[in-house]
Amino acid sequence: MQAVVKTELSGLKLLNRGKVRDIYAVDDEHLLLVATDRISAFDVVLPEPIPGKGIILNQLALFWFDLLKPVTANHLVASDMADMPAAVRAHKDVLQGRAVLVRRANVFPAECIARGFLLGSGWKDYQHSGSVCGIPLPAGLKKNHRFTPALFTPSTKAAAGHDENISFESLATLVGATTARELRDLTLAVFEKARAHALSRGIIICDTKFEWGTIDGRTVLVDEVLTPDSSRFWKQEEAERLLPAGDPPSYDKQVVRNWLETCGWDKTPPGPKLPPEVAALARQRYIEIYERIAGRPVPGLVEGGVH
Ligand SMILES: Nc1ncnc2c1ncn2[C@@H]1O[C@H](COP(=O)(O)OP(=O)(O)OP(=O)(O)O)[C@@H](O)[C@H]1O
Ligand SMILES: [Mg+2]
Repeated sequence: MQAVVKTELSGLKLLNRGKVRDIYAVDDEHLLLVATDRISAFDVVLPEPIPGKGIILNQLALFWFDLLKPVTANHLVASDMADMPAAVRAHKDVLQGRAVLVRRANVFPAECIARGFLLGSGWKDYQHSGSVCGIPLPAGLKKNHRFTPALFTPSTKAAAGHDENISFESLATLVGATTARELRDLTLAVFEKARAHALSRGIIICDTKFEWGTIDGRTVLVDEVLTPDSSRFWKQEEAERLLPAGDPPSYDKQVVRNWLETCGWDKTPPGPKLPPEVAALARQRYIEIYERIAGRPVPGLVEGGVH
């Protein structure tokens, strides 16, 4: 099996290469989002891919879109190659399992983040200011406090560099007060449904990022959702052993981060080449996450490869 590191799809116009996904225009109304096998750590794309990662994460996002249908509409048009336009089908060998055809949406200019725990930058913020992203919180909260409901902390979508947290009021200025409330309520509703499902399967979703847009005037969920690339996952049994005092490791990235922390890399590009055994462990983690959450093997993925 060949890993897909970077796609060059003749006949389709490349719009953007993100850290992990390649985005193509199919026509005026449709985009093709392609999840490659690239992996990023510490915000740097590593030179070695994780074979099959794009398929696993794309399939996970598809599982979630389906589960979340009662809560929200989404941008999906097709995920099976048979349902794709001819220009896409022409690249079936590369795209099978890792691409979705979506309606182009007017994407709101904010990342809608839901935080289920007081950790990371939120914990630092709280220690300094008693609030997280401008949301005042009671005094005396401990690190890793679980928020129910989760905190809604939007951020800007920076074209380059880091996204910046913004207050709910700034979001209201950006998109209008009614829409800001709608995005907050939808984000939290989707997050609660997803985290309850994941927990029933032994995974804790700590936090995640959603993007929303409008299609024909209706607000819908866009982009990818609830994968390890847009979320922080903990393995429940591991987290419960370590909490409240300890910091549970990231379910997927920890094996990669541990290795990167000890190999002498200064965390500036280019990243080092992952040893095959570390890449294999990371791949196994992605598979485990999918299998736990979806309760079935990853469609289109076979042991040792992809068919
Ligand atoms: N249905 C849609 N209509 C229009 N744009 C969409 C839709 N779904 C997702 N997008 C946009 O496609 C882009 C996907 O880019 P991608 O996430 O791969 O890279 P990036 O955001 O540039 O960088 P990063 O890899 O750091 O996330 C995002 O800007 C997202 O808002
Ligand atoms: Mg993105």
